[in-house]
Amino acid sequence: MAAQGDDLIGDVLLSEAQIQERITELGAEIARDYAGKAPILVAVLKGAFIFMADLARAVDIPLEVDFMAVSSYGASTRSSGVVRIVKDLDIDLHDRHVIIVEDIVDSGLTLRYLRKTFESRGTASLEVCALLVREGNQQAELDLRYIGFRIPPAFVIGYGLDVAERYRNLPHIADYKGAE
Ligand code: IMP
Ligand code: MG
Repeated sequence: MAAQGDDLIGDVLLSEAQIQERITELGAEIARDYAGKAPILVAVLKGAFIFMADLARAVDIPLEVDFMAVSSYGASTRSSGVVRIVKDLDIDLHDRHVIIVEDIVDSGLTLRYLRKTFESRGTASLEVCALLVREGNQQAELDLRYIGFRIPPAFVIGYGLDVAERYRNLPHIADYKGAE
């Protein structure tokens, strides 16, 4: 895999076709569950930007999208446990049905923080759609309504996921060979 001239890009974990097939299923499920509710899909930047773009187009009902940026990892591959809002939402969540769109849930600390924050804004309902859940690392009690794939405990890149801002543009999800 030398397409990006980088030998830290490992084996393909999830191909473009596998990802798209699963997103079609998730989109249909969400469309069915939220018919008549005009949900807001809230993506957590930057990692979820590509998943959000594909998922939103797979949900065939009226909906809105918004984006929030939090910092959790910085340029490292390890969780700092510190979550900070870098960019807040534009849409008022009060009385709205909200679906948080996450790229990957690792410790779950980011998600726990977002849930608390959004619930305090008076949402009518709040669920999570995570493309990936890394097995075995969750420190917080999580309630994930929609899950794309459960993956083994290795660091991954591509399809929005980065290491120090690189590799987000890989069309598939790959193992990262540079993780400590
Ligand atoms: P958590 O708070 O530990 O659940 O961290 C979740 C966030 O860490 C994700 O939204 C990603 O931005 C980042 N992250 C966790 N694991 C990976 C990975 O394997 N590759 C790239 N980013 C990751
Ligand atoms: Mg993220």
